[in-house]
Amino acid sequence: MKKRIPIIIDTDPGVDDFFCIAIGCAFSELFDLRAITTIGGNNLTDVTTRNALDILKLLHREDVPVARGADSYLTNGFDEPVARFHGANGLGNVEIPHSDRMIDPLPAWDKIYEQAKLFPGKLIIVTVGPETNLALAFNRYPDLKQLIAKIVVMGGSLDKGNVTEYGEANIWHDAEAAKIVFASGVPIDMVGLNVTRTAPLKQSIFEGINDPVREDVKDVIRKLIDFRNGEAMHDAIAISSLVSDDVMIWKDAYTYVVDGDVYNRGQTVADYDAEIKNSRVAVGIHLDAYYQIMKDMISSYSK
Ligand code: RIB
Ligand code: CA
Repeated sequence: MKKRIPIIIDTDPGVDDFFCIAIGCAFSELFDLRAITTIGGNNLTDVTTRNALDILKLLHREDVPVARGADSYLTNGFDEPVARFHGANGLGNVEIPHSDRMIDPLPAWDKIYEQAKLFPGKLIIVTVGPETNLALAFNRYPDLKQLIAKIVVMGGSLDKGNVTEYGEANIWHDAEAAKIVFASGVPIDMVGLNVTRTAPLKQSIFEGINDPVREDVKDVIRKLIDFRNGEAMHDAIAISSLVSDDVMIWKDAYTYVVDGDVYNRGQTVADYDAEIKNSRVAVGIHLDAYYQIMKDMISSYSK
């Protein structure tokens, strides 16, 4: 049996984050999901942490620790959560049973370091929220960059942003953190809006699934898809690139993050001709491969 990949999902659940976590939990023969670390962004960290605990309860994966992250960005406070994208409760106003489990005693940045030391050169971080926790971990532990194998980022864009003309939410919210992460020297797989926008998720994803999927999971998935009117689940697309090499079309680049209080804050600039490359950037997607992963994920939550 192939060795499982140790991963941490750093997330701000979050409607599309739900699908990223569901994939991370579903492919348990591929992923050794070591922890979920939480951050603000789609909602405050208290709410995203609550959501992470409840999602893992729903998915019957309360074996996965949840380590709570920062209560502000590196240099700014959190913005008011935008309920129209993720609902007042951060989960598309879909109510799921509450977990009474405690969070991990370690904060997110220490949990990342703990697991990186346990799996030196093997741990992969899937970051699908503002990259504050990872930046804090790099600042606190100078040797961390030698221990992490790769960082899969849902963030940035090779064309337009979604918060501003140039800024995609995860990068724009904490561009200072993203700059630290992209400059860390750890290989980055950046899955930006230029690709994720092209992969909407509609109720038709259930077509052809004959497994007896659990009604509670099916109901939540249907409601989340409805809440986002079939829009792309960006975070699910990012982690699907780790499930199979057949999903994403990559280009090697040196990718630079624009930080500071400038008009193009959060812009991710990919230089394909740079001598030193720090990243692969997604430039295309094989939709059939992605949708098959989503179908397999849904099927895995069968009775
Ligand atoms: O821009 C999309 C990203 O911002 C996704 O990760 C979504 O969950 C929000 O965090
Ligand atoms: Ca997210």
